[in-house]
Amino acid sequence: MKAVVLVGGEGTRLRPLTETVPKPLLPFMNRPFLDHVLDHLARHGVDEVICSSPYLEERFHGFLESRSSARPAVTWITEAEPLGTAGAIAGAREHVDGTFLALNGDVLTDIDVTGLIAAHREHEATATIALTAVDDARPFGLVETEEDGRVTAFREKPEVRIPGRVNAGIYVLEPRALDRVSPGVMVSIERETYPDLIRRGEPVLGQLADGYWRDLGNPAAYLQGHVDALDGRIEAYRGTTGPLVAAGAGVDPSARIEEHVVVAPGAEVGRNATVARSVLHADVSVGAEAVVDGSILGARSRVESGAEVREAVLAEGARVPEGVRLVRTTLGPGEVASDPGRAASVR
Ligand code: GDD
Ligand code: MG
Repeated sequence: MKAVVLVGGEGTRLRPLTETVPKPLLPFMNRPFLDHVLDHLARHGVDEVICSSPYLEERFHGFLESRSSARPAVTWITEAEPLGTAGAIAGAREHVDGTFLALNGDVLTDIDVTGLIAAHREHEATATIALTAVDDARPFGLVETEEDGRVTAFREKPEVRIPGRVNAGIYVLEPRALDRVSPGVMVSIERETYPDLIRRGEPVLGQLADGYWRDLGNPAAYLQGHVDALDGRIEAYRGTTGPLVAAGAGVDPSARIEEHVVVAPGAEVGRNATVARSVLHADVSVGAEAVVDGSILGARSRVESGAEVREAVLAEGARVPEGVRLVRTTLGPGEVASDPGRAASVR
């Protein structure tokens, strides 16, 4: 089985982290997120993945090298301009033969893909959409079905807050599902292709999938995904307990690293510092007596001695100077936090 993985979104809601790192390559549990997607697919018998993106292949070069001897094999397609979700899948058509999978590349899940493929075949569907139940469908594609699973409506980003079953971003497709997608133009599978297939009476199946599922597209979800992995709630991390501190990290023995924390290789945490519910990327430095809570610290960012960082996102190379308190703020790449009120605890 082959799978097309969409890795071309701009990652707008994860800015400014995604200003320097494409969303699929942001570290998750100290590995590029895309590794998790590919490993999940490998566990379900996928032997080749086609990644489609308007990003230049160069940006993924290191990642692709690191996967060169791993399964599944990865083929890269660079879109001359963004083709949208259906355009990108259709553009990969020549690489697939028969029934194939297509996935959003930003979903952390252990959904049973094998079961999804079996349901698709049993119903002889043109397209099968994995569904997950949420309390608020607004950020997603709301999918309505008959009792037998046949999809009757697909409403991308409904305007009102309603609970319901939404598109989990994992599809089993027959090549004919994309027959009406013209090559080289931007087409959305959610807004155009699915509604069109439904209108034409093609069998589109919605299949509620058991298992863990979360779209990691914003900072809160990115942190919560880590909490869930550290608590062992995701198949690949069963039995895991936090914190996760990489072998190559330097944590002072007096520092307090709480359970929902990930520290990447090369990161340093100084004397008496406290780190809670946060993810520290490679080569981050947290100074003595500093406090970091509910935050994402991008690669090479620095929180200096006695500084306090809460619910913040620091892009690559950003810096919070000594004693500065930064709350619910983001810093862009290389940006230095200004000093509106020095932390009360400055020593
Ligand atoms: N190659 C390529 N080209 N990929 C794209 C493009 C493009 O032009 N546009 C978006 N993508 C990729 C993104 O990288 C992501 O992996 C996926 O397509 C979905 O785009 P998002 O921008 O993350 O969409 P979303 O999260 O708002 O909504 C989508 O996912 C939800 C589930 O997480 C939709 O598919 C919803 O219906 C769904 O519920
Ligand atoms: Mg998304």
